[in-house]
Amino acid sequence: MLSRTMQDAINEQIKNELYSAYLYLSMSAYCESLNLPGFANWMRMQAQEEVGHAMKFYESVHGRGGRVVLLAIDQPPAEFQSPLDVFEETLEHEQKVTAMINNLYELAIQEKDYASQVLLQWFVTEQVEEEDSATKVIDTLKMVGDSRQALLMLDRELGGRQAPQANEEA
Ligand code: FEO
Repeated sequence: MLSRTMQDAINEQIKNELYSAYLYLSMSAYCESLNLPGFANWMRMQAQEEVGHAMKFYESVHGRGGRVVLLAIDQPPAEFQSPLDVFEETLEHEQKVTAMINNLYELAIQEKDYASQVLLQWFVTEQVEEEDSATKVIDTLKMVGDSRQALLMLDRELGGRQAPQANEEA
């Protein structure tokens, strides 16, 4: 059985993951406005992955006899400075999410909630991947500099990101 404290904290994290989806979808819309469909695709896939993260928490609450309560999601920013700014903000956001996951893990230890600790271990690993993938694109964008041609090549590469499979999206 899920404790009330842990349940409330996970409900808060469901909202945070859905905000991440909202933020990345907004970034996708911005990239569309720059005529960079590959960047837009990458961000749309990222948004889908975040919905998967929210659902992983959602299902775990119900699976343990808890109650999901959906909280209000803030409006994300609509404007960004450049594709590099988009990915730098992505990395900054993911670093905040990593801190949230670490805090949840800490709470699960305090609560002696072993099932949540196992669930959160998956998220700890996922956050390493999330920060790494944003960092890689930032590094490439810095090398690209002002070259429109190199930017379009990167756009083609990012356009290849596929939708997460149902069994691995979260
Ligand atoms: Fe759900 Fe990007 O962390």
